[in-house]
Amino acid sequence: MSSTILVGYATKYGSTQEVAEAIAVALREGGLQVDLQPMRVVSTLEGYRAVVLGAPLYMFRWHKDAKNFLSRHRQAMTQRPVAVFALGPTEDKPKDWQEVRSQLDKELANFPWLEPIAVEVFGGKFDPAALTFPYNLVPGLKKMPVQDLRDWTAIRAWANSLVAKLQPESSPW
Ligand SMILES: Cc1cc2nc3c(=O)[nH]c(=O)nc-3n(C[C@H](O)[C@H](O)[C@H](O)COP(=O)(O)O)c2cc1C
Repeated sequence: MSSTILVGYATKYGSTQEVAEAIAVALREGGLQVDLQPMRVVSTLEGYRAVVLGAPLYMFRWHKDAKNFLSRHRQAMTQRPVAVFALGPTEDKPKDWQEVRSQLDKELANFPWLEPIAVEVFGGKFDPAALTFPYNLVPGLKKMPVQDLRDWTAIRAWANSLVAKLQPESSPW
């Protein structure tokens, strides 16, 4: 099997892509071989021995690319270590973090065969000026302040914790 790890992401406004890029950098610094791709362009997992999958939550749902990816690659995903992350809260309140984690858990429960080696939620980025249709028509959203809750130290720490878990199996020979 290949020695490459796929870091696959879905994004609407780019913030999850930037997190996926930071994770890919940290994994590479940890000595791992990494391929970073938008998950919708990945047609096969044959070239990968492990997968890190990240997507934002929108309207209480995980990005559809992530759910499509899991459905499409079900068999291959059961044969490889998989780590999952989501971007979500744009308000730093304990209640919001808990709610977002349960949103993600609920989404993952639709894929009971998936047994991730790690699941993490990171804060999201919200910029009302960047909203596109149909969200730019929602007055409440346009009035919300710019927020970026991505904690780059926590993101790197999570990626570093994956470096140990994703080491190729060492052979005594
Ligand atoms: C219209 C809209 C709906 C959102 N809904 C949720 C949600 O239900 N749960 C959540 O945790 N975050 C929600 N978010 C926050 C996004 O997950 C966050 O902004 C994320 O960083 C976006 O990722 P992207 O830039 O990769 O698209 C929402 C954001 C927008 C603009």
